[in-house]
Amino acid sequence: MITNNTSKYLKEQRQKVDKTLLNYLPSKKDIPGELYDAMVYSVLSGGKRIRPILALTVGRIFGAGEKALMPAACAIEFIHTYSLIHDDLPAMDDDDLRRGKPTTHKVFGEAVAILTGDAFLTQAIEVLASGKYQPVISKRLISEITSAVGAKGMVGGQVLDLNFTHNKTKTVPNPDNKSYTKMLGMKTAALIKASVYCGGIIARCNKKMLDMLEVYGQHIGLAFQLKDDALDYPASVRDKYLTEAEKTIVRAKAALKHIGRKARILEELADYIVKRAF
Ligand code: IPE
Ligand code: IPE
Ligand code: MG
Ligand code: MG
Repeated sequence: MITNNTSKYLKEQRQKVDKTLLNYLPSKKDIPGELYDAMVYSVLSGGKRIRPILALTVGRIFGAGEKALMPAACAIEFIHTYSLIHDDLPAMDDDDLRRGKPTTHKVFGEAVAILTGDAFLTQAIEVLASGKYQPVISKRLISEITSAVGAKGMVGGQVLDLNFTHNKTKTVPNPDNKSYTKMLGMKTAALIKASVYCGGIIARCNKKMLDMLEVYGQHIGLAFQLKDDALDYPASVRDKYLTEAEKTIVRAKAALKHIGRKARILEELADYIVKRAF
């Protein structure tokens, strides 16, 4: 069960993030109307906003203000948005629905969908650059985010995933299979970990704390994708995935034990990741 407290917190945070994401879009007057419509359509369609919420939550726990956290948090959500638009394309997962609504390419066509993804990726960099960070912090954020989403991270993971998702003759991998967990680590956990870590960087956490946050972020990231796959798989294999996700969450929470009481909300978010219904 997800507690009322967690649900209320997530709802409030989601509303805040949604509002800020809209403000961070390029001005309507500066870009082609169709691109603007596709960007608004793709970003405002009911995402959970778990990545920006993690960045905001971690940053606040360690004393950073929202003004400092929002550019990085929203840049990460824009990158996530780009990844979903491209992931749904016919050349990849060929999905017609995302968050219960027609995918971007179904509404705007493939060419505009590809370009909308590209626009989100570049807008993310612009938003990140608009943050008033000291140069050293800016550099660390850029380095953390780009390595999480580039060839070493999400994009590389998407390539590895082609062997799993696109090879229809393959049986469902065991949730602890080495190449499968490597793929999950790159495809999904890297960006979730970066979200947590960037909150810590902006709040100027020390190395010891950042190391703990890294372990927490990595494990909730893996559990997030295990849960995501569990939701897709038939009941016969679902339980194995859920058990693995629960085990992974225990490891994530163990990394928080030196942080003390203020980590309580991070424990709740970890629970939410395995207990969520979608
Ligand atoms: C979906 O991510 C794709 C994965 C990496 C599992 P989310 O489940 O965070 O998607 P939204 O943004 O909430 O729809
Ligand atoms: C989502 O992966 C895409 C990225 C992580 C880049 P999946 O293909 O597994 O997720 P859904 O099921 O489309 O949300
Ligand atoms: Mg995919
Ligand atoms: Mg997909």
